Amino acid sequence: MSTIGLIGAGHIGSQVARLAVSHGYDVVISNSRGPDTLSELITELGPRARAGTVDDAAAAGDIVVVTIPLKNYRQVPVAPLAGKVVIDTNNYYPQRDGHIPELDDESTTTAELLQAHLPTSKVVKAFNHIYAAQLTTDGQPAGSKNRRALVIAGDDLDAKAAVKDLLDQFGFDTVDAGPLKEGWRIQRDTPGYGPRRTAEELRRDLAAAKRYADR
Ligand SMILES: NC(=O)c1ccc[n+]([C@@H]2O[C@H](COP(=O)([O-])OP(=O)(O)OC[C@H]3O[C@@H](n4cnc5c(N)ncnc54)[C@H](OP(=O)(O)O)[C@@H]3O)[C@@H](O)[C@H]2O)c1
Repeated sequence: MSTIGLIGAGHIGSQVARLAVSHGYDVVISNSRGPDTLSELITELGPRARAGTVDDAAAAGDIVVVTIPLKNYRQVPVAPLAGKVVIDTNNYYPQRDGHIPELDDESTTTAELLQAHLPTSKVVKAFNHIYAAQLTTDGQPAGSKNRRALVIAGDDLDAKAAVKDLLDQFGFDTVDAGPLKEGWRIQRDTPGYGPRRTAEELRRDLAAAKRYADR
């Protein structure tokens, strides 16, 4: 595993790219406006980074991170992501994304929507509950006391293991919430969404999470 593809180069995408480059990965970064608009970020990131089209980033990545406003998830290309581990950072904000009935009634989750759109990819939810800026400030070496933890969820165990390994390199412990359908436990307005948490605290937060309708 040597290349991380990024679909989305905003707050989270640029930060994951910084983490990836500083940990020895190559990155191919894309956005909606095209590679020419990413020259400043590429200059900052240096020779391990290049800008590409969304298809380029999807094809180049051993792991591909989808980090765009949720409302655009159907624009993510399907074919170049076939068989790949795809990290989904996305959250649902109706004021930004418009109302999505199956998220409003909680019959599905954001990552399950992306998984349905990418049926042969292995989608893993990650990075959705940490503020972008903290991605490059809060990481600590493995074994550090009170190390910050991040939640993952996914249906493919090998894909989750790969993402856990990546998070560990980036400086974070991992708490596995289970399959994608359990990702609601770390969605907007749940106890673990946002604050700095150790693995033990995050496990408590996941257990304490309530469905929107039950609050
Ligand atoms: N900000 C945070 O702290 C944070 C934390 C955790 C999770 N999240 C979630 O992560 C996702 C990304 O958040 P963000 O704050 O990084 O967003 P952002 O700063 O608004 O950046 C969004 C990026 O997605 C790109 N994009 C939009 N539509 C696209 C498409 N169809 N194809 C390719 N690229 C596309 C945009 O490109 P253009 O600029 O060219 O349009 C931009 O680079 C959201 O779902 C958000 O809720 C955010």
